[in-house]
Amino acid sequence: MRLDKYLSQATGLSRKDIKRLLHKDLASVNGVVTRDASLKISDDDNVVFQDSDIAAPRPRYFMMNKPYGYVCSSDDPTNATVMGLLIDEPRPNDLHLAGRLDLDTTGLLLITDDGQWSHKLTSPKHKQGKRYLLETADPIPESAVEQFAQGVQLLNEKHLTKPAELEILGVDEALLTLTEGRYHQVKRMFAAIGNKVIKLHRDRISHIVLDESLAPGEYRELTEEEIHISK
Ligand code: URA
Repeated sequence: MRLDKYLSQATGLSRKDIKRLLHKDLASVNGVVTRDASLKISDDDNVVFQDSDIAAPRPRYFMMNKPYGYVCSSDDPTNATVMGLLIDEPRPNDLHLAGRLDLDTTGLLLITDDGQWSHKLTSPKHKQGKRYLLETADPIPESAVEQFAQGVQLLNEKHLTKPAELEILGVDEALLTLTEGRYHQVKRMFAAIGNKVIKLHRDRISHIVLDESLAPGEYRELTEEEIHISK
C-alpha cells in the first residue's frame, strides 16, 4: 500500500493533508525520513509519523441484519440505505458490501474494506453457499428440489443456474442455498418454475450465520473464526 494511503487510513487525515505533512519531514520508514507519498509499505516496514509508531491499518469486517425497505447502496434518492446505518465508522467510503440484497429482502449482510475477502465469499468460483429462507405464493412441489439441483433456465440468461440445494420446510416455505449471486436470483428461480417468492431472508453466507441477537438495522464486528475462510 502507498505511504500516503497507509498513513491516511491509520490517522483518519486526508491524503492531501498527509502529503503536506510529509513535506515537513514528519514521516520515516525503517528509520529513514521520507517525503515519498507513493513509497510502497509492506507489513514488515516500521513506519513512524509525527513521532509515533504507526501500526498497519487493520481491515474491518461487520455483519448486519438488513431491515426490510433499506437499499444496498451508499447513496439513494428515495430509500434509506444500509450504509447509512453504520454509526461513526471511520472512512465509511472504504467499506463495501460482500453481496447485496433487494430492498424487500432482509437478513445477513457482510460489510468490509477487504476486497480480496469479499471476492472469496461472493465469486461463484469459490463456491461459498448463501442460504435463504423463503416463502412463496403457491405450494412448492417436491420436483423443485431436483430442478434446482440440475439448474434452471432464467429469463434472458445464457447459462443454467449452478446446482442449488432446496430444502422444503413446509407447503410454501423452504431453505435455498446458492453458490452464485445473479441479479434477483432466488426470485427468478422460483419464477422459472411458475411460482413467486413473497418473503426472502438470508441467514447464512459460507460458515457465517446471522447473529440472532442483532435486531433489524443492528450490526457487529465479525469474530476471528467468522473472518477465517477455510478454502
Ligand atoms: N435473490 C433475490 O431474488 N433477492 C435477493 O435479495 C437475494 C437473492
